[in-house]
Amino acid sequence: MTANEFKAKLGAYVSMTDAALEKYLAGADNPQKKIYEAMRYSVFAGGKRLRPVLLLESCAVCGGDTAEAMPFACAMEMIHTYSLIHDDLPAMDNDDLRRGRPTSHIKFGEATAILAGDALLNKAFETMARSKSPRALKAMSIIADSSGTEGMIGGQVVDMESEGRDIGLDALRYLHSLKTGAIIRSACTAGAVIGGGGDDEIAALDEFAENLGIAFQIQDDILDVTGTEEELGKPIGSDAEQGKSTYVKLVGLEKSGTLAARYSGSAKAALAPFGDRAEFLLELTDHLTGRMS
Ligand code: IPE
Ligand code: IPE
Ligand code: MG
Ligand code: MG
Ligand code: MG
Repeated sequence: MTANEFKAKLGAYVSMTDAALEKYLAGADNPQKKIYEAMRYSVFAGGKRLRPVLLLESCAVCGGDTAEAMPFACAMEMIHTYSLIHDDLPAMDNDDLRRGRPTSHIKFGEATAILAGDALLNKAFETMARSKSPRALKAMSIIADSSGTEGMIGGQVVDMESEGRDIGLDALRYLHSLKTGAIIRSACTAGAVIGGGGDDEIAALDEFAENLGIAFQIQDDILDVTGTEEELGKPIGSDAEQGKSTYVKLVGLEKSGTLAARYSGSAKAALAPFGDRAEFLLELTDHLTGRMS
C-alpha cells in the first residue's frame, strides 16, 4: 500500500464517519436544541477519528461490512468526545483549548458541558441499540465495559489519584492501558465482532490494540512537552502543570520515544496472522507513532 493509497483510505473512513455522525447528531428543532449545539460543537471540531477508523477497519479485515459497523464507529467517537469534554473540566485537567477551539465549558459554561458529555454517552448507546446487527448486543457489551469503571473511567480515576505522586512504571502502564487503551481495544474487538471475526482474529486485534493504545498515550505524553498548540489544538504543558504522572516525567523524553516505538512494534507484530490484509493497520500504526497532532 503506497502512502497515497493509505491517505485516501484514511480520508474515506473519516468522511464516511463524519457523514454518519452528522445524521445521528442532527438534533431536533425543540427545546433541547441547545444541547445538540454543544454536542456538535465538540464532535465537529476536527478530531482524528482514530477510534471509528480502527473499528471500521477491524470489521473489514475480518471480512465484515463496514456499513453495518458504522453505528458502532460513531458511538465510539461520541464516547471518546464525551470523555474529552469531561477530561477538560476545571475539576479534572482544567484545560481551555480542545481540537483547536475553546473547550466546551469555556464556550457554554460548566453545566452545559457536563450535560453535553452525558448526552453524548447516552446518544452512543441509543445509536448502537438501534442497529439491526445480530451481533449488536455483544459489541455493545464490549464497548460498555471498556468505557466504564473497569475501563476508561477507571483509568481517569487512577489518573486523578496519581496527580502529584510518584508512581512506578508498571502503575503508569496500567493507568494508560485503562484511560486510553481500553477504548482503543474495544474499537478493534467490537469491530471484529460486528465483522464476524473468529476468536483468533479477535484475540490478535485485541493484542494489536492493547499495544497501540499504550504507544498512543506515550506519544500523547511526549507531545504535551514537544508539541505546539497550533498543531495539537490543545494546550502544551498541561500535564506538568497538573502534576500528572506521565512517561516523560517518569523516564524522560528519549526513553519515552524508545518505549513508544517498542509498543508500536509489538502492535504490528500482533497483526501477523492477517498477512496482507493488515497493511492499512500497519501503516496506521506507523502514521500514529510519527504523529505531531
Ligand atoms: C486525545 O485523543 C486523548 C487521548 C486519549 C490521548 P486523540 O488524540 O485521539 O484526540 P482527537 O480525537 O484527535 O481530538
Ligand atoms: C485523556 O488523557 C484520556 C481520556 C480523555 C479518557 P489526557 O488527559 O492525557 O488527554 P489530553 O492530553 O487532555 O487530550
Ligand atoms: Mg486527563
Ligand atoms: Mg487532559
Ligand atoms: Mg495528554
